[in-house]
Amino acid sequence: MKNSCRNEEMSSLTSHNNSMRTLLLSKDKEQFHDLVDLDNIDLVLRELLTIEEMREAGSFFTGQKLATKAVGLLPAITTGSVVLDPTCGAGNLLLEASRKLGVELTLSATLKVWGVVLRGFDIHLHFIEATKLRIVIEALNRGVEQDCTLDEALALLPNIQVKDAFTVHSEELTDITHILMNPPFTIMPSPKQNYWKKGKVNTAGVVFDQYLRKLPKNCNVSAILPDVLRSGSRYDEFREFISESMQADIDIWGRFNNKTDVDVFLLSGVVNDNDQVVSWHRAESAESTISDHFNVRTGPLVAYRDPEEGSEYPYFYPKICPQWEVVREATEKRRFRGTVLNPPLIVIKRTSSPSDRNRASATIINLREPVAIENHMIVVTPKDGKMDTCRKLMRILQNQKTNDFLNERIRLRHLTIGVIKDIPLLGMWI
Ligand SMILES: C[S@@+](CC[C@H](N)C(=O)[O-])C[C@H]1O[C@@H](n2cnc3c(N)ncnc32)[C@H](O)[C@@H]1O
Repeated sequence: MKNSCRNEEMSSLTSHNNSMRTLLLSKDKEQFHDLVDLDNIDLVLRELLTIEEMREAGSFFTGQKLATKAVGLLPAITTGSVVLDPTCGAGNLLLEASRKLGVELTLSATLKVWGVVLRGFDIHLHFIEATKLRIVIEALNRGVEQDCTLDEALALLPNIQVKDAFTVHSEELTDITHILMNPPFTIMPSPKQNYWKKGKVNTAGVVFDQYLRKLPKNCNVSAILPDVLRSGSRYDEFREFISESMQADIDIWGRFNNKTDVDVFLLSGVVNDNDQVVSWHRAESAESTISDHFNVRTGPLVAYRDPEEGSEYPYFYPKICPQWEVVREATEKRRFRGTVLNPPLIVIKRTSSPSDRNRASATIINLREPVAIENHMIVVTPKDGKMDTCRKLMRILQNQKTNDFLNERIRLRHLTIGVIKDIPLLGMWI
C-alpha cells in the first residue's frame, strides 16, 4: 500500500515528540497526565496537521470512551497475552490495553513485561515514536520508579515498530492472542484478490480481511470499523467472509467523535472457521416488507450524463419534490431517451442523514403520463398500480418505526435500494 501521507508532513509531529522527551527528562510529572490522555492527542494532531493531511493519512485517533468500549469487548488482557494493534497511530488503543496490566516497582521491570504484551505497527516513524514515549509516560504516571534512561526504556518496547500492516506474514502472528484495531478509513485501489472486485474500496475492510486470514485460530478480535462495511451493499461479500471466519458480535456506535463525521461500529469476537450467523442489522424481521408489494429502483436519468434529446417528459429530481405531498402536474420538463416510468409511484430522496426527522423523505407522483426521474431518487412503484397502495406506503414511511428501522440498518448519508426493499410493513398493511 502506498505510504499515504508524506513523512515530511508527519514530521511536524517531531515537535510534539520532542516536548514529550523534554518533559520525561525533566521528570515534570504534573504534565504526564495530559500526554497520555486519549482525547488530547487528537487535539494535538489537529493543531499540527491540516484536516486534509489527517484525512490522507487516515489518522483519526480513538478517543477515551470508544477505546474503553473496544478494549472492554476483549477477554482479559494478562501478562500472558500478546495484544497487537497493526495500525497503532500514537498508541491510544495500546495505552488503553496497558491499563489492564499491573505495574512492577520500577519502570524497567514494568516495561519488560509490557514490552512483550504490547505490539504495534504504523507506517509513520513519528507515530511509532509517540506511541513508545506515551507508553513510557503511562508507566511513570502509574507511579513506577524511573530506574533507567529514556533510551533504555524505549529499547524495552521492541515490538512497536515502523511497519506496513499489509506486509506482515501469518508466521509473524502465531503468538497473537488479542487484536485491537482502528484501521485507516481511507479509500484504496481494490486488492483484486478473493472476493474484492476492481475499483476503490475502504482500506479498513482490506486491513481487517487480511488479518482475519493471517491470525491464529481462537485469537480475540476487537475492531472499530466504518459503518459502510456493516451496511453498504458493496460490502456484502466482506460480511459473508467475516461470518465464515469468526464468531462475531456487532455493536453500533454512531459518530466516531464530535469532530469526525463518520459513523462507526465495533466488530468483536473470536477467529474460527465455523459458518455462523452474524447479526449485522439488529432489526431483522420476518414480517412482509416493501418489496412484497412494490418494485424498487433508482431513478434512471443521470442529469450530467444523459443528453437532452428524445421526447419531452415531466422531470423530477429531489429539489422539486415536496415531502409527503402528491404532485399531479409537471413542474419541469426535460427531453430524455432513457427509461421513463408510469405513475402512480413514490419517489424517495436518496440523501438522508440519521439526524433528519424522517429518514425516508417521500413524494407521490400521480400524473397521467410517463415521467423521467433523476438518479438521486429511489423510485417505488406499486405492483398493483393503485394510488391507494401509494398512500398506504406514505403512512408507513412517516411512521417512527420506519425511521428507527432505517437508522438501525443504515447510518450512512445515502439510502440504498436494498434497505428500502427491506422496510417492514409494520402490521399496517391491511
Ligand atoms: C485511524 S488511525 C488509528 C490509530 C490508532 N489505532 C487509534 O485508534 O488511535 C490509523 C493509523 O493507521 C496508520 N496506517 C495507515 N496505513 C497503514 C499501513 N499500511 N500500515 C500500518 N499503519 C498504517 C496511519 O498512519 C494511522 O496512524
